[in-house]
Amino acid sequence: MKMSNKKMSLLGISRREIILTGDRPTGPLHLGHYVGSLKARVKLQNKYKTYVIIADTQALTDNAAFPEKIRKNIIEVALDYLSVGIDPKVSTIFIQSLVPEIAELTVYFLNLVTLARLERNPTVKDEMKQKGFGGNVPAGFLTYPVSQAADIAAFKADLVPVGEDQLPIIEQTTEIVRKFNKIYQPVLVEPKALVSKTGRLPGTDGKTKMGKSLGNAIYLSDSASVVREKVMKMYTDPKHIHVENPGKVEGNAVFTYLDAFDPDKKMVEELKKQYRQGGLGDVAIKKRLIEVLEKFLTPIRKKRIQFAKNPKAVMKILEEGTKKARIAASQTLAEVRKAMKLDYF
Ligand code: TRP
Repeated sequence: MKMSNKKMSLLGISRREIILTGDRPTGPLHLGHYVGSLKARVKLQNKYKTYVIIADTQALTDNAAFPEKIRKNIIEVALDYLSVGIDPKVSTIFIQSLVPEIAELTVYFLNLVTLARLERNPTVKDEMKQKGFGGNVPAGFLTYPVSQAADIAAFKADLVPVGEDQLPIIEQTTEIVRKFNKIYQPVLVEPKALVSKTGRLPGTDGKTKMGKSLGNAIYLSDSASVVREKVMKMYTDPKHIHVENPGKVEGNAVFTYLDAFDPDKKMVEELKKQYRQGGLGDVAIKKRLIEVLEKFLTPIRKKRIQFAKNPKAVMKILEEGTKKARIAASQTLAEVRKAMKLDYF
């Protein structure tokens, strides 16, 4: 018989900790995704058992009329994963809709949240405003945090590396899991969010968030000339008009990116000092950033081109990953049904 996690830890048996995280396949991934979560996944994949979900079901909650868009982006996201170094030999990459156990768990979880609690979720609230649903919010959209809780709980994930904006969703997951364990049996694991120390990467326009729909993103798959063009137009300090004048570093997107991507921290501090004093122009700091980003993106681009040559092999990786993921989720669901007294035969 399988033991509950509580029993295992009481007996001093440790289980390998699990990571689950992922993305909606609504477009290619950008530098914000890298800083917020991809970087941590690559770093931790050898230490934790890692599952990476391509959340197509979730993507449909606000794209119901655009199935082609979701389908097309499955492979784009997979290519991004592989090219930044998510290794399918150690990380299980899978497609959400092909693990129906997640959908089943979502249905059970829906009884453990109130409508009022869903309406209070700050992430969903922000997104509803941004998407301009008005009074016509799809029920599936309002409840996507519940389905995301099921993504996480179906794999008994301990850690969820995500961008800051996802924190309220992980918090809601913990509440649901806690409630499940209390009402039924303690078979599920309360997850913790893992948020990057670098914080949120602003868009190239200096706005708080880099977003596909905001038109302020630099994509991992952007060519060198596109990156150059985007950086040259980047938001700096709007009051810094003459090179010789002192400029502001705080809120200056170019410096935020340098902090996130320039391995030479000393050099960044030196540039900041000069910029604050005056005498350092925006073009100079942008040139440095282009150089830094090129160093970072060149190997990623190369790998992407290599993988993109063989889309069949990429889809095979997803197929294999999905098979593995389904086995893990099925085991959890068997425990869930038993705990809920739904194991009739
Ligand atoms: N909501 C996440 C995003 O938009 C994607 C996602 C779906 C996810 N399921 C998840 C993230 C489970 C972490 C864990 O980025």
